Amino acid sequence: MAGEPLSIDLLIGKAQATIKQCEVIEKSRVRVSWSDSSGDSIYPMMLLRDCCPCEKCFSPSVNSRLTLFEQLLAAASSVANISSQPESLCIDWEDGHKSVYEAEWLYRRRLERAATEDRLLKMYCEVQETPWTITKPEEIKTGRYDDILRDPAKIVEFTETLIRDGAYVIKDAPPRHCLVEFLREIKAKHQSTHYSDGEWVIKNIPTSKDLPNSSKKLELHIDMPYLVKPQQLQLLHCLVQSADGGENKLSDALKAALLLKKENPEYYRVLSSVEVDFQFIKRYRGSHDWFICNRAPIIQEDPRTGLPSLCRFAAEVRCSSFNQPVEVIESWYEAFRHYWSILEQHSILIKSSPGDILAFNNGRVMHAREAFNQQQERQLEGIYADWDYLMSAWRVAKCELNRRV
Ligand SMILES: [Fe+2]
Ligand SMILES: [Zn+2]
Repeated sequence: MAGEPLSIDLLIGKAQATIKQCEVIEKSRVRVSWSDSSGDSIYPMMLLRDCCPCEKCFSPSVNSRLTLFEQLLAAASSVANISSQPESLCIDWEDGHKSVYEAEWLYRRRLERAATEDRLLKMYCEVQETPWTITKPEEIKTGRYDDILRDPAKIVEFTETLIRDGAYVIKDAPPRHCLVEFLREIKAKHQSTHYSDGEWVIKNIPTSKDLPNSSKKLELHIDMPYLVKPQQLQLLHCLVQSADGGENKLSDALKAALLLKKENPEYYRVLSSVEVDFQFIKRYRGSHDWFICNRAPIIQEDPRTGLPSLCRFAAEVRCSSFNQPVEVIESWYEAFRHYWSILEQHSILIKSSPGDILAFNNGRVMHAREAFNQQQERQLEGIYADWDYLMSAWRVAKCELNRRV
């Protein structure tokens, strides 16, 4: 596989298969019998025609289908002749088009349930979000900055840990301005926001009215709950740490939400259904004004898994217009008080040192900051990224590792 270009086939990995025989069944399906113990595989003819790998229909260099859907609708999906050799299946379509499918290509795309499930794990990662068993800061996985940049296996570890635990500490980062480059080097990408097009800075400015840029305590929150899609990944690079205080508090909202659901299903129902309003209203000199509002429940479930996947809370930006009936608001406060106590009870304190980058799932692992001595300097750089590009980096790294097999 040396030098093999990126593709689903490379991501899925090696597949050794030979065809014993093939036949058309039920007029619109093809059955392929494999030489080994894999049994038979059945493919809809329409799918085979749609995914014809010939050079008129597909370009491997850009991993792109070249035919339009309207062409598929006009094309024949009935077979004039079908034949096979151990290494390939050949279909002559009634409109004269000819498709040749390699046995390995077909084998990797088997539609039997077990094969589909296996393929999904390889395409979307078999690691699942797992509620924290972490109770101490030392239990958060760490890796060296240079090692992650150099080694695809470390990129895989970094991304899979972020999926599983929602947190990872990168050690020994360069002194400053490395976050954009770090993401670019691992083949992910940062996100611009209204704060910055790249890295933003949090530092102690004694005259600042902005809580993050003070030495005061910040309680558990996620960044940007007022966005329809809050930032998914946050990286906080410690440049200067205060001697007294300044620890980050972290709490796994997934774990807390599952505990809440077990302890009090009614509270969970309230927090996962009652919509709360958030706002970000700022007037900037030298920049334009912002007036962002969004309305969503505190706990948001992943529609695919049904698991709580996003906790939307930040006291600073919760709107004073609570657009719900009186009794709903009262039950919301009662439920949230209980959820808050679980979040606090299972939180940990972690104190970053200069050169540490705390990477975490912004929507899942809530973060806070303890107050610190206002005479002392403390400075962080931060950046946001989203999962699509992080998962892209994971797939590229997986392909790189598969090339070496
Ligand atoms: Fe924050
Ligand atoms: Zn074709």
